[in-house]
Amino acid sequence: MKIRNMTLEDFPELAALWEPEGMDSSRDHYQRVLERNPDTCWVVEEGGEILAAALGLFDGRRGFVQSVVVRKDCRNRGLGAQVVRKTIESLRECGTDRIRLFVRKRNSGVLKFYEKLGFAVEEGCHYLYDTSGTPV
Ligand SMILES: CC(C)(COP(=O)(O)OP(=O)(O)OC[C@H]1O[C@@H](n2cnc3c(N)ncnc32)[C@H](O)[C@@H]1OP(=O)(O)O)[C@@H](O)C(=O)NCCC(=O)NCCS
Repeated sequence: MKIRNMTLEDFPELAALWEPEGMDSSRDHYQRVLERNPDTCWVVEEGGEILAAALGLFDGRRGFVQSVVVRKDCRNRGLGAQVVRKTIESLRECGTDRIRLFVRKRNSGVLKFYEKLGFAVEEGCHYLYDTSGTPV
């Protein structure tokens, strides 16, 4: 098993992991994220197959962890924790310790997973979106 940076060629396999979870699996989005964040997006791979993945996005000030997924038959083996830790480490290497992520309320079950990784819910913020655009 190894952990390595994502590449464009990984997209079809990743889309197959993201789609059933209702996560963004647009190729254009993926390509732009990788172009801007080539060193902070990771996959865990075994035998040429992707088992886990996470995107790390750095905006110059904050780092964002997105699209964390583990293949259904590989969950509860520590792979999610491994790929998120690697993403955080690489975002820190960009020069930030302000790492953020958001969890949809319908997916509140995963809060425990992130809390075990050292995240806490920020009570002092509202999460807003531009209503003239696509909802979050
Ligand atoms: C959430 C997800 C990435 C977790 O991956 P995983 O590989 O199963 O998690 P790990 O095995 O690394 O778990 C690490 C710890 O978190 C705990 N944990 C993981 N998922 C949990 C859950 N849903 N509820 C409570 N605890 C959970 C584990 O028990 C483990 O605890 P331990 O360290 O005490 O043993 C995976 O379930 C997944 O892909 N879910 C669907 C996509 C998703 O919701 N992504 C998050 C979007 S915000």
